[in-house]
Amino acid sequence: MAVYFDNSATTQVDPDVLEAMLPYFTEKYGNASSLHSFGSEAFAAIVKARKHVADLLNASPREVIFTSGGTESDNLAIQGAAFHNKGEKNRIITSVIEHPAVLNTCHFLEKCGFDVVYLPVDEEGFVSEEDLKEAVNSNTSLVTIMAASNEIGTIQPIESLAEIAKDAGALFHTDAVQAVGKMPMDLKNSHVDMISISGHKIHGPKGTGALLIKEGVKIRPLMYGGGHEWGMRPSTENVPGIVGLGKACEICMSKMTEDIQQMTDMRDFIIDTTLDSIDGVYLNGPRENRLCNNANFRFDYIDGESLILYLDMEGIAASTGSACSTGSTEPSHVLRSLGLTPIQCRGSLRLSLSRFNVMSEAEYFASVIPSVVEKVRAMSPLGDKKNAIRS
Ligand SMILES: Cc1ncc(COP(=O)(O)O)c(C=O)c1O
Repeated sequence: MAVYFDNSATTQVDPDVLEAMLPYFTEKYGNASSLHSFGSEAFAAIVKARKHVADLLNASPREVIFTSGGTESDNLAIQGAAFHNKGEKNRIITSVIEHPAVLNTCHFLEKCGFDVVYLPVDEEGFVSEEDLKEAVNSNTSLVTIMAASNEIGTIQPIESLAEIAKDAGALFHTDAVQAVGKMPMDLKNSHVDMISISGHKIHGPKGTGALLIKEGVKIRPLMYGGGHEWGMRPSTENVPGIVGLGKACEICMSKMTEDIQQMTDMRDFIIDTTLDSIDGVYLNGPRENRLCNNANFRFDYIDGESLILYLDMEGIAASTGSACSTGSTEPSHVLRSLGLTPIQCRGSLRLSLSRFNVMSEAEYFASVIPSVVEKVRAMSPLGDKKNAIRS
């Protein structure tokens, strides 16, 4: 049995997405800026895709800027707001558990002389409204807080945080790369000004994404070139990629309610059976206000990487944390921010689901995890291994 439970790292491309993209590599290869029929065919495809992206986020098509992915969208929003307001407002506020696409952009801005505030989180990964109220001031150009955590699934109270930013005259950006398709996102009826999304997390192609910028919000582009994307993101459009992203958003929109239910059922089954069948295991992140596709555990006396390898031998693909920190010897900055020790962080396992997973895969996981944990604990130098498995 091959079970893919690493959908927060990336997802399989939906066959309908692939089918929609293919003609734009072959017979429909025009440049969307060209005046002839090849060009207008490509242009029309982009218009259609833009509408699908906008619909999924309750935005208008004019508010969608296509990019190369979540990282670029985050950079465009954060650097764009920071440099547009430089000199007048120099404070940027973010949280300690953001993805490196946000954190490293903020580190760069610090080197450029900006004043960056990193808000702490509580033991379940929530940012506090009080902390934001204290940090935000009239010198703040932007608050950027992720909609949901890629590692521990915590869903932030984005709406109330965005309202606090708005009251202080600051823009609010959210990295919704993991949230989109797994919870409703709404640009129009919210105080959020900018939303980042990524195609490959929602069964679209890698190297695609968008930044949604609410009408009237002014930021500076990252690049200069032709006038594509209203000058916000010049470069000849990646037509097949944009078509794929649009199709992925269209499918998300039509299936969201049933997808969320299906993933929630599997997530809850995995969390309940794992906590019930094994001693010395804890859930990282909250039980409520958690992404429907995320389970993240911490096992005593275990090295998460060994667990991943043993699970892989059983045909289950999972991860220790975010794909970005895999390969690094540093414990996850997200888990450390919850107050966990480096050893506790090392014993963590993340399972992330998608609409292509089925309950029998969750049942298979539940059937193998106790013996895998037992094997890994038996080899572990980390301490007392007695009573690892509940009888
Ligand atoms: C929360 C979050 N933001 C941003 C990104 C980066 O997205 P991309 O891989 O499309 O650049 C990721 C990818 O893991 C993510 O999980």
